[in-house]
Amino acid sequence: MTSIVDRFAAARRDPALAVLSGFHALKHAVRFEAAIVEAVAPDPDAVGRLAESLAPDVAGLIAETVTPIAADVFARLTADSPGAAVAVIGVRPVADVAAVAAAPGRVVFLERPNHLGNIGASIRVAAAAGAVAVITTGDRDPWHPTALRGSAGLHFALPVIRTDRLPELGRTVVALDPTGESLSSGMIPGSAVVAFGSERHGVSPALQADADRLVAIPMRPGVSSLNLATAVAVALYT
Ligand SMILES: C[S@@+](CC[C@H](N)C(=O)[O-])C[C@H]1O[C@@H](n2cnc3c(N)ncnc32)[C@H](O)[C@@H]1O
Repeated sequence: MTSIVDRFAAARRDPALAVLSGFHALKHAVRFEAAIVEAVAPDPDAVGRLAESLAPDVAGLIAETVTPIAADVFARLTADSPGAAVAVIGVRPVADVAAVAAAPGRVVFLERPNHLGNIGASIRVAAAAGAVAVITTGDRDPWHPTALRGSAGLHFALPVIRTDRLPELGRTVVALDPTGESLSSGMIPGSAVVAFGSERHGVSPALQADADRLVAIPMRPGVSSLNLATAVAVALYT
């Protein structure tokens, strides 16, 4: 049997698996029925106490899932997330674009996002707002452990899919761009693809051409843009 350090290292490279760290990520993964391969903690009783106080609905499942590990080995598994109470390998759900197309609700599209923290925070707010899916393009893996930390494990609450380009979903596409018409209530249909540009380059000319409408979040003069995940939050909650 391979060592746990090797198994976590292999899981980080495996596109079928996801590596999570921290109690809230485990809580959401369990709550949204992720398949957990293994979950380890130096102090499983402490994780159990957190679960009893913060997530009693899944405390029993969490207690069954977490196994003990030596503190020095755990520190190696979580070197990039100090303070985490638990480290987890889960299975990435298989996502189906055809099912996304048919589901009621908004789809969030992130065009070539760069910062993994932004990707995670966008997924977190998309899950909270009841979006149907988050679709990304570009070379950043939206299931990277850093993005999973940013989402607090809410990747398991909705499909998170990386594609080559925005798929044809038969929905109105509303692109958020500071040059668009000023956002007000009712401008983004409940079934729209809500599209966002990259942090550096904004919405590409190709995405502008695909969009049915460009919408701007009003800003004070002198401010050029909002943070990507902040823009996602404003758009979904308006
Ligand atoms: C950090 S911004 C990109 C800034 C980029 N330099 C630009 O020129 O657009 C990332 C994305 O967030 C969205 N965004 C940020 N501020 C916005 C605003 N005030 N109105 C509409 N969308 C905004 C857009 O989709 C934008 O492409």
